[in-house]
Amino acid sequence: MRKPLMAGNWKMNKTVEEAISVVKALKRSISDVTDVDVLICPTFTTLYAVNNELKGSNIDIGAQNLFWETKGAFTGEISPAMVKDAGCSYVLIGHSERRQYFGETDETVNKKTKAALAAGLIPVVCVGETLKEREENVTFKVIEKQLKEGLAGLTAEQAASVVIAYEPVWAIGTGKTASPDQAQEVHAFARKAYGEMYVDASQKVRILYGGSVNPTNVSELMKQPDIDGGLAGGASLQAESFTKLVKYSK
Ligand code: PGA
Repeated sequence: MRKPLMAGNWKMNKTVEEAISVVKALKRSISDVTDVDVLICPTFTTLYAVNNELKGSNIDIGAQNLFWETKGAFTGEISPAMVKDAGCSYVLIGHSERRQYFGETDETVNKKTKAALAAGLIPVVCVGETLKEREENVTFKVIEKQLKEGLAGLTAEQAASVVIAYEPVWAIGTGKTASPDQAQEVHAFARKAYGEMYVDASQKVRILYGGSVNPTNVSELMKQPDIDGGLAGGASLQAESFTKLVKYSK
């Protein structure tokens, strides 16, 4: 019912030349994939070139951030329409690194989510608890707050179209993945909490797992009933490993 989505977050990596070389290889290696949606989120400066390279392929592109205003005196920011104009169909919102280093809050996540939807982009809204929060047993509380505030005020149709990414902060870039059971537990909880906000959307919304997803652990994670895809950082940077994620064994 929910088509899996495998997404790569390139973070602050790759020049135009490096980005093109990876997507050229990816285009070849996954051209036969039809049962999984594929998304790459490169840097702003490489989006335009990557989009040109990927025209007509089965790979979508997304930005890693945007600003909610439409235009004007906001030095250094990028509007939703600009992201769309660069060829994006998706945008990551509220990644934990943005929350941690750039002061993003559930309130700014909500503004960005609504602005992205208004521009015709699909937001991939990231939620996740820190190690301290997990140890204090407040994981569900944290996820619930991030969902209820970050995704408040959507129409039923918008609520079904967004993508949620559960990324435990302690598993990002650390090599420590949540076990499939641990991840499933939070995914099931997130779907239930989302159902309290949007009854009809909760069975339709795709919830990705992120945090040290790699070719070895992807299949077990994807077997979980509430895990609808992956959001990979490190393992998405090379065509070979990202291809293995996209072509995980079912
Ligand atoms: P990682 O990053 O796969 O390198 O842990 C995931 C992410 O931050 O989206």
